[in-house]
Amino acid sequence: MLDVACGTFALDLPLLKHGYRVVGLDASRDMLRVARRSVARERGAADVRVADMRTFDLHRTFDAILCLGTAFNYLATTRDVRRALARFRRHLRPGGVLVLDLTNFEAWIRHPQNVRAEVEYRSRDGTRIAVFAFNDQDLPKSIHFARFFTVVQKDRGMSVGFDEARLRIWEKSDLARALERDRFHPVEWWGDLRLGARYEPSRSPRLVCVAIRT
Ligand SMILES: C[S@@+](CC[C@H](N)C(=O)[O-])C[C@H]1O[C@@H](n2cnc3c(N)ncnc32)[C@H](O)[C@@H]1O
Repeated sequence: MLDVACGTFALDLPLLKHGYRVVGLDASRDMLRVARRSVARERGAADVRVADMRTFDLHRTFDAILCLGTAFNYLATTRDVRRALARFRRHLRPGGVLVLDLTNFEAWIRHPQNVRAEVEYRSRDGTRIAVFAFNDQDLPKSIHFARFFTVVQKDRGMSVGFDEARLRIWEKSDLARALERDRFHPVEWWGDLRLGARYEPSRSPRLVCVAIRT
């Protein structure tokens, strides 16, 4: 399998344990540093590399491609979506499976969760980390702004970081059309990553699509 924005590899570790071979790509070196550490801790083996899902070329095909944990929403323009889908198609064998796991923004917009304390963490050496999320949506443009404030306190020192990402808001029907246009045929829709979890537009946390490369 190929996970095209694997992040810390957290969702791939169970697959390794089940005997799948997984290659992971991600645009972030920091994420991959954590991913390599996690794989080593599990005494597993996995090939993880820095790459952009819009441009990568591995000169081989896979049985399945995964794009999980909202990573597909990071493709904010139609051009980037099409570039990535062309890459996915080139790296998937005919009949191979594409799994996209997006945030279900339809439910989010009905029940806004735009302000929340995301993480409060204390590590063994006493470092404290607090992450606060505050978001906003530009509905006419189908864009969600994900913003995070991160505050790290170590001893008496403190650092504050700010991060903003533009995410594309997808509805199921638009995603189905975009996939068919680039010759992926959706066969299943789930409301989260549990196999067969029923998709309910106004309630499900996730919009998961399983599509076949035609
Ligand atoms: C919310 S994280 C999800 C990570 C992982 N898939 C998971 O579910 O745990 C989104 C990831 O997408 C990566 N990403 C965003 N744009 C990317 C791109 N164009 N190519 C590759 N990775 C990208 C980020 O670096 C980040 O690791």
